[in-house]
Amino acid sequence: MTTTNTPIITVQQHILEEQKRFPGSSGEFSSLLSAITMGTKMIQAKVRRAGLSDILGEHGDVNVQGEIQQKLDVYSNDILSHFLSLRDSVGVLVSEENEKPIIVHNNLENANYAIVFDPLDGSSNIDVNVSVGTTFSILRRPEGVGMNDAEQWALQPGNKQIAAGYVVYGSSTILVYSVGNGVHGFTLDPSLGAYILSHPNMRMPEQGKYYSVNEAYRDSFPPGYTEYIDRLRKGFLGHKYASRYIGSMVADFHRTLLKGGVFLYPPTESNPDGKLRLLYEANPVAFLAEQAGGMALDGTGRVLDIQPVSIHQRCPLVVGSRVEMEDFEQVMVEAGSTPKSDSF
Ligand code: AHG
Ligand code: MN
Ligand code: MN
Repeated sequence: MTTTNTPIITVQQHILEEQKRFPGSSGEFSSLLSAITMGTKMIQAKVRRAGLSDILGEHGDVNVQGEIQQKLDVYSNDILSHFLSLRDSVGVLVSEENEKPIIVHNNLENANYAIVFDPLDGSSNIDVNVSVGTTFSILRRPEGVGMNDAEQWALQPGNKQIAAGYVVYGSSTILVYSVGNGVHGFTLDPSLGAYILSHPNMRMPEQGKYYSVNEAYRDSFPPGYTEYIDRLRKGFLGHKYASRYIGSMVADFHRTLLKGGVFLYPPTESNPDGKLRLLYEANPVAFLAEQAGGMALDGTGRVLDIQPVSIHQRCPLVVGSRVEMEDFEQVMVEAGSTPKSDSF
């Protein structure tokens, strides 16, 4: 007799079930994800106490992105790199905070995975107690690529991801991940120190009521973007949209996944290719969005089809519900930005 109607399923139990989909995965997969869950539990403990320990503020160095690293960026990067390096199945790590890939094991036969991650997303929000996040993407070493050709492990289109996910450190800490079999969310129970299944089989609503973009850059958006945003504001899709913008991609995407709508980071004057990085920001959320019934485009095509050429390359990102995204696609075709696709 169970003591509760709803089975209490930890993320570890869930992963064991999911990995049965990977014949021969022999537990590597659950071991990988447990490194990520363990690392994010330590990150969240720091995030929750950021004001109390000497963890706020700038670390002082500038990272490969030319951005001043926050102390929590560096801590989060060190923690995740530490736990992932302990896994024999990890060959290569690519982090937003490291200019080059880290070769973890290049002499182990089963070191066949590359983990690509943004250890702390939304860093500018840390000091003002606004939600931040961690993103990750798991890729398998491509056939015929050598153990030391680290960049090639990561330079694969997003449609090759075997898993992706994020943790959002908000009013609660929620892990959302997919191995290509739907999207599932787990809430960290601090009293247990365990991620418990709270959002099984997440589906993005067909349409929402929020759009999310940094309107300060509006004047430099390419043709089509402002027309599209004005269509949402003026009710062309059936109702007038409200605007929500947190400034942490993970938090803005999490809201979009739960409530529907659309999140955009278009090309801007200062970031003509968009600000978000393809490998560890756009690809993970695009994978999850599509798994949940939504869409993710870069203004000319599907994000997951982009063939990366450098590990920190940026791309425009428009991700959200089917209704909003099909309208965006149509507007961009009419603006001449998106080649006519076969979906019309
Ligand atoms: P990161 O902190 O990892 O550098 O990412 C910050 C990104 C993303 O989280 C967010 O959507 C975007 O920066 C916000 O940029 P703006 O402040 O230009 O709107
Ligand atoms: Mn980021
Ligand atoms: Mn970051």
